[in-house]
Amino acid sequence: MATIESILHEKRVFPPSDEFVRHANVSGLEAYRALCDEAQQDYLAFWARLARQHIDWHKPFTHVLDETNAPFYKWFDDGELNVSWNCLDRHLATNGNKTAIIFESDEGAVTHCSYRELHAQVCRFANALKSLGVKTGDRVLIYMPMRIEAVVAMQACARIGAIHSVVFGGFSAKSVRERAINAGACVIVTADQQTRGGKQHALKTTVDEALAMGGADCVRHVVVYRHTGATIAWNTPRDRWWHELIDNQSAKCDPVWVNAEHPLFTLYTSGSTGKPKGVQHSSAGYLLGAMVSIQWIFDFKPHDIFWCTADVGWITGHTYVAYGPLAMGGTQVIFEGAPTYPDAGRFWKIIQNHKVSVFYTAPTAIRSLIKLGADLPAQYDLSSLRLLGSVGEPINPEAWMWYYTVVGQSRCPIVDTWWQTETGSHMIAPTPGAIALKPGSCTFPLPGIDAAVVDEAGHAVPPGQGGFLVIKRPFPSQLRTLWNDPERFKQTYFPKDIAGGSYYLAGDSAQRSEDGYFWIMGRTDDVLNVSGHRLGTMEVESALVANPLVAEAAVVGKPHEIKGEAIVAFVVLKGIRPQGEQAAEITATLRDWVAREIGSIARPDEIRFGDNLPKTRSGKIMRRLLRALAKGETITQDTSTLENPAILEQLNQPGR
Ligand code: PRX
Repeated sequence: MATIESILHEKRVFPPSDEFVRHANVSGLEAYRALCDEAQQDYLAFWARLARQHIDWHKPFTHVLDETNAPFYKWFDDGELNVSWNCLDRHLATNGNKTAIIFESDEGAVTHCSYRELHAQVCRFANALKSLGVKTGDRVLIYMPMRIEAVVAMQACARIGAIHSVVFGGFSAKSVRERAINAGACVIVTADQQTRGGKQHALKTTVDEALAMGGADCVRHVVVYRHTGATIAWNTPRDRWWHELIDNQSAKCDPVWVNAEHPLFTLYTSGSTGKPKGVQHSSAGYLLGAMVSIQWIFDFKPHDIFWCTADVGWITGHTYVAYGPLAMGGTQVIFEGAPTYPDAGRFWKIIQNHKVSVFYTAPTAIRSLIKLGADLPAQYDLSSLRLLGSVGEPINPEAWMWYYTVVGQSRCPIVDTWWQTETGSHMIAPTPGAIALKPGSCTFPLPGIDAAVVDEAGHAVPPGQGGFLVIKRPFPSQLRTLWNDPERFKQTYFPKDIAGGSYYLAGDSAQRSEDGYFWIMGRTDDVLNVSGHRLGTMEVESALVANPLVAEAAVVGKPHEIKGEAIVAFVVLKGIRPQGEQAAEITATLRDWVAREIGSIARPDEIRFGDNLPKTRSGKIMRRLLRALAKGETITQDTSTLENPAILEQLNQPGR
């Protein structure tokens, strides 16, 4: 894979075609600059205009931004709205019969769901939640397959002002338990199983395990959607079938009007400690970010068929599946399965069959599809595509060029979108009818987003120099706090030493080239990016040391051709260092163990055993050395401060 150095030397430039510019929502560089200038001249008036234009308010706001308790910013905070009403009801009069969702199952069955049908389903389920006693402000944990019902559950919560917390279906029982307890969830919505790539995976059984571990007494009910019909254990009266609950419910449910700042959801993500953090988003500011980014970056047109491949368990699946496309009144594809099932042509076939016009996926998927069939797209009719998107990790120029020429047939701009769970929506990404693209660069901030690269004191660094990526002014879609942990929120995102705590610190390093383009270089904290998914090294380490065989563990990332980053664990066992067959067996045991503790995305790619770990004389593990060892680099760093230099040779042997 290309290194950041080779990306920075990228000279190829791809301006938008005249045809694209002519029809673009932000048409030409001047139009982009005009929006930036508008924000520059009167920041609050700019956001207020957009909030009035895009959102239907039950009670209009008069305050735009309240900074009195910074960094706990409030936007539009005397206004009232309902997010589900904005996503559904407001389209009914003019677009009720328009297809909201084209759903394709793992096995290829296709269902079309109109706005009217989706609205009815959401209302029924919202009434069902109410029948279980769920009230405004209550938390509901959603652990569902990637099906229409996942969106229905999320929208139903929004409708009654309940705060959802979606947990990705690949996470373990322990992760479900931890999140349910932290959120204080009163209901868990799940399914019997999920199906992906022709295989079934337990969901309800995992929830049962999570609750059997104890501590989550807050959970009163588990609502189960019957998907595969698998036999599952049943716990009366706690467990309730989805279909029985909605059976007699009305297809009308008045939305609960909430304050603009009312939490819409929390979503757990990894940080630099072993404990995931519950990122809390607002209602109005979040919705606005989703809408303006779809308007500007995805160049939304009412006739588009939009397809974002992300699972609703991640922020991308929240903003660009469950909320944004619906709020815009668009038509989107939701796909239950995997890109390589039944073969590596599946994505291209879906694009062809449903005439997808805007396609948004992750570099890891692109790289794996190149590997499994670089010539496959040519066998499908991809002429419906007009815009491509990339998200979640840096895209290497080779993958970018393939995406551009083979998938987009050199006709479709690629929007490389940099953002995070915490920012809620795109922050740095090209407005495709205005900005010339460079492979590997997410280009320029969205209008109104004051992004910069600074040094440790918060001063701007010169072009070509790396630094911390920050956003200097509050913006509507940013996280409001960490659930149950306002102190960690302040310390992590608004550290005092950078500009007195007034900048949002993203946790990424970046640099700008002379011409102002942004290039993201990677995380500055102990967070890995494995196949576009965020994982804390400490989380994996805590899982490993929870195994009775393990005395100590250190986890680092190393570059991986497909996944972007792979997980390498250095492990010291309680007994003697295993070798040969025994090492292979323990490796397999520990890999499965981590998958069970956290989820299969955290399964280490490689485990190396040592008698101990490289530490300084004060006992600190030297991670930089471990990273170099994992990459197979020759150690050029000074190792004189190392307590036990001989260990390097032992750990230098590739693991399994
Ligand atoms: O390191 C950046 C990387 O993904 C991190 C955010 O991860 P998460 O909160 O899970 O959200 C992923 C989907 C928005 C960032 O801190 N990242 C995300 N998008 C890009 C990226 N790195 C480079 N280029 C991107 N386009």
